[in-house]
Amino acid sequence: MTELSTSGAAPGEPAVPASPATGAFLDVRDLKVHFPTDDGLVKSVDGLSFTLEKGRTLGIVGESGSGKSVTSLGIMGLHTAGQYGRRKAQISGEIWLNGRELLSSDPDEVRKLRGRDMAMIFQDPLSALHPYYTIGKQIVEAYRVHHAVDRKKARTRAIEMLDRVGIPQPDKRVDSYPHEFSGGMRQRAMIAMSLVNNPQLLIADEPTTALDVTVQAQILDLIRDLQTEFGSAVIVITHDLGVVAELADDILVMYGGRCVERGPAEKVFYEPRHPYTWGLLGSMPRLDRDQTERLIPVKGSPPSLINVPSGCAFNPRCPYADLPKDDVTRTVRPELLEVGSRHSAACHLSREQRERIWTEEIAPKL
Ligand SMILES: Nc1ncnc2c1ncn2[C@@H]1O[C@H](COP(=O)(O)OP(=O)(O)OP(=O)(O)O)[C@@H](O)[C@H]1O
Ligand code: SF4
Ligand SMILES: [Mg+2]
Repeated sequence: MTELSTSGAAPGEPAVPASPATGAFLDVRDLKVHFPTDDGLVKSVDGLSFTLEKGRTLGIVGESGSGKSVTSLGIMGLHTAGQYGRRKAQISGEIWLNGRELLSSDPDEVRKLRGRDMAMIFQDPLSALHPYYTIGKQIVEAYRVHHAVDRKKARTRAIEMLDRVGIPQPDKRVDSYPHEFSGGMRQRAMIAMSLVNNPQLLIADEPTTALDVTVQAQILDLIRDLQTEFGSAVIVITHDLGVVAELADDILVMYGGRCVERGPAEKVFYEPRHPYTWGLLGSMPRLDRDQTERLIPVKGSPPSLINVPSGCAFNPRCPYADLPKDDVTRTVRPELLEVGSRHSAACHLSREQRERIWTEEIAPKL
């Protein structure tokens, strides 16, 4: 018996892509972003899947080089061929945004979505702001790409956005150049530019790393307020679990280009079930301790993305690698399996082992 087509396409006609099974606003499925290099294939993102609804915030956490920025650039369609003389990225999987699959869409169509449907706050504001143009001109241009309005109207909108992100005297600062702004102000200006078209999806890639603690808190509050106001879906990317513990609804922990744990923020933060997440928690600064107290970094270095360790990629650094039987940790890659409601982890430890280690060894030391 032939399978029934759900696309409504007549035989021989190209099938319309089926809508995603989950119906989620953002549905990333088995995303792989590999870069061919002279040393071999760099598997920066290797089979990442997650969903995100409007009005919700997902925190993506992981050490430097775990594939966080490559993931966000992939969603935004910004892995352009031959960028900086590098070879073209090999991208596969599916990225559904509001019912449209982006990886199979025409790049010109994806470009039209950038700014209006999805926008990104970059790690370094200077890389996103042009040094030769005033802040105002850059926001005006970003707005006029998607709105048929004259410059005067767009300028009014730019001033309104600068005001909204907490820039004092926005009607004057609108004519400043990026170098005339402090780091925190530049970050705010970039947020204003990212939000000028009310994007439905906002990706904030380490929006606070370069800023001092007070400004960091202000910027995070700002993202939260703006999200409440616009009801956007937000992805906050950071290497600091503390940043997303409060801000995010869900947390996804990345290691070596893959998800090792994901779930509701309070579960991942208060009842984590993966040894790498335990390591990240141990390396977090604690407000209730002496500032000078040394943090315990996760021992060892991040895995090679060309020769990824066999079995569990975390095994060379994991203190519990010998607990699962038959050396399974070094031979079989652990699947992401449910460990609680909406909470999953990729680790061969048994449920009893994980719960015992967490309760007896890890939690008391945090
Ligand atoms: N164009 C490229 N060609 C080859 N390798 C790349 C390319 N872009 C990224 N990579 C590699 O992919 C890996 C993941 O990079 P990515 O920038 O996503 O890390 P990250 O998690 O954002 O780290 P950080 O916290 O330092 O920003 C890194 O090892 C990086 O060197
Ligand atoms: S699978 Fe093994 S090496 Fe990997 S995190 Fe679990 S215990 Fe550690
Ligand atoms: Mg990054």
